[in-house]
Amino acid sequence: MKYAHIVGWGSYLPAKVLKNAEIAKMVDTTDEWIYTRTGIKERRIAEEKETTATLAFEAAARALEVADLHPSQVELIIVATSTPEYIFPSTACRVQDYLGATKAGAFDLSAACSGFVYALSMASNAINSGMVRNAIVIGAETMSRVLDWHDRGTCILFGDGAGAVVLRHSDVPGGVLASTLRSDGSGGDLLSLPAVYHNPMPMLGPEYLHNGHKKNTIAMNGRQVFRFATSVVSDSIEQVLTQAGLTVKDISLIVPHQANVRIIESAAKKLKIPADKFFVNLERAGNTSAASIPIALCEAVDNGLLKPDDNVVFVGFGGGLTWAASVVKWNVTPPKVSLAEREWKRARYIYARSRSQAKKVIRRVGAYLAGSPTPKARMKDADRRSSNGKL
Ligand code: ACO
Repeated sequence: MKYAHIVGWGSYLPAKVLKNAEIAKMVDTTDEWIYTRTGIKERRIAEEKETTATLAFEAAARALEVADLHPSQVELIIVATSTPEYIFPSTACRVQDYLGATKAGAFDLSAACSGFVYALSMASNAINSGMVRNAIVIGAETMSRVLDWHDRGTCILFGDGAGAVVLRHSDVPGGVLASTLRSDGSGGDLLSLPAVYHNPMPMLGPEYLHNGHKKNTIAMNGRQVFRFATSVVSDSIEQVLTQAGLTVKDISLIVPHQANVRIIESAAKKLKIPADKFFVNLERAGNTSAASIPIALCEAVDNGLLKPDDNVVFVGFGGGLTWAASVVKWNVTPPKVSLAEREWKRARYIYARSRSQAKKVIRRVGAYLAGSPTPKARMKDADRRSSNGKL
């Protein structure tokens, strides 16, 4: 059996900062309420030109740099997201194209805030079985685009960002030691984001879907989700440790989904461990859903909190309902990459984009030569048929 080691990590947060005080100008809330009830002070918001795929690409490129892996060596890309720009093509396929990862399979995974841990488990299984040698697992979200900015129960919580890890096969025992994945669809209505075409409450008109929430925005029963989260975080950690044959004493760090500092404190109490065993960066990034664990992991590594042979636990919970945990033996020290080396590696993505553009042009020319109508001719034809009453 091959072992799946984390050999690269990277994160990307958009530059634009949104502080609690600014949200207090939009809805009836205060900086103090948000901070004391959640632990959040500010979150990042994607610029108009940024998408979930561009954030995911930035995180993945940084993770590949740390792993010192060429994109053509990547065989699998999984993007955990609830905010894809398209249902298809998947965000993962766009990242594959941006990276120029020409030998990779790519797909998105939907498990809300547990998505990163689900994806990590899928990718490590693919490596364990020998199906692939190297994989990138990404959590990426543009939550700001699916929030009802009039709903103080949700808009105060979420932020945008992406985080990624590179998994590499190895004969050395370690890496992802065990994972547990769970779900309870009966609680689906507690936290949901309806798809574009779904309107279960047509009597409320096209602008509103369920619970009086605006079209295409998150609806959440905060109290119930809070209760669910406090019950599953400690259980998940205990289950995954049992599966790996470890106890909490063997764990150096727990990187939980960053939803609410009170959920994390409650889990620490249940596990009878100090709260500082949990890494928390909620204050700066808010809840970035599937991206929160890999973003927090990168910050923990930057702060020197992980060294070789440490065991680290990831634990996620969220919509679905879903929850999941993984335990990983950390085997690497971050390499030193010079600025010149970094710039040189970035140049390969300019080449990837040019190659992608060239392929598009070749496809168009090929279609034209084969006699397919151009998009312009197709539109003209549709116009003609509609004016004839045939459409
Ligand atoms: N500002 C001021 N007051 C508020 C706000 C706000 N932003 N939001 C709610 N309140 C009020 C309520 O109206 C209520 O007032 P009332 O007592 O007069 O009725 C009071 O504050 C308490 O409301 P609660 O809902 O009980 O507040 P709570 O302490 O539970 O905090 C919160 C709300 C922060 C949403 C919390 O429930 C929570 O964090 N839930 C979990 C969210 C989560 O973890 N999501 C995870 C997964 S995300 C994913 O998967 C996509």
